[in-house]
Amino acid sequence: MTSVDFEALNGQLAEKRPKDIIRHALEQHDKIGVSFSGAEDVVLIDMAVKLRKDVDIFTLDTGRLHPETYEFIETVRKHYGITIDVRTPDQKALQDFVREKGLFSFFEDGHKECCDIRKIAPLREKLTTLDAWITGQRRDQSPGTRSNVNTVEADTTFNGLGDTLVKYNPLANWTSAQVWEYIKIFDVPFNPLHQRGFVSIGCQPCTRPVLPNQHEREGRWWWEDAGHKECGLHAGNIISKS
Ligand code: ADX
Ligand code: SF4
Repeated sequence: MTSVDFEALNGQLAEKRPKDIIRHALEQHDKIGVSFSGAEDVVLIDMAVKLRKDVDIFTLDTGRLHPETYEFIETVRKHYGITIDVRTPDQKALQDFVREKGLFSFFEDGHKECCDIRKIAPLREKLTTLDAWITGQRRDQSPGTRSNVNTVEADTTFNGLGDTLVKYNPLANWTSAQVWEYIKIFDVPFNPLHQRGFVSIGCQPCTRPVLPNQHEREGRWWWEDAGHKECGLHAGNIISKS
């Protein structure tokens, strides 16, 4: 898939159901992966494996996830009988970083450096093997950074196999309520942290439950400015707004 008219493609896909968007994506690309964070984006897996049993599913194991999230990733692997490509950070880079700055430097000088080593570099490596990826980003996840997320876009942050790395966000136009309705209707397993007030789930030290009426994003990197709460996986969300 080379020169893509993304505007036209969005016009064609935006109103479709997430499963149909995933079907389109899987038909267009052989080298495509679903990125799974261990949270409610499990619905992507539920939809994708029904379309292609051996779909490539990967997760970025930062080494700092909640025990519940590790257990949940394993639950999902067994429930669907799938292989999950668990990507880990480069050992030397991580060792050097921790030796120099300790295990909680993000509280002092921001999350970027740690996220770069634990998430972004492993993601970059994975994406060089793909020409498209599927994420669980939704517009309602973050008024500060995700309100313009499109159903399909050119990922200009990373390089893939082909000329253009295509990024599909099949849930872009779904609300959290729709995701949870899907989970209920189809008996999809979910991360038990959601029963304890966690809405958006990332790494354990950088995620906390939210109070009633607090936006889900307020539970992530709460000590930082709301407009920059992206770890770099979806850095285009910030770049496109500046
Ligand atoms: S984040 O950038 O702030 O961490 P968020 O938790 O909202 O992202 O998740 C949005 C989507 O990014 C997920 O549905 C998933 O596709 C991808 N993603 C986030 N974290 C991971 C992870 N650890 N491993 C794989 N994909 C992830
Ligand atoms: Fe490090 Fe926190 Fe980023 Fe996880 S979310 S990689 S612990 S800074």
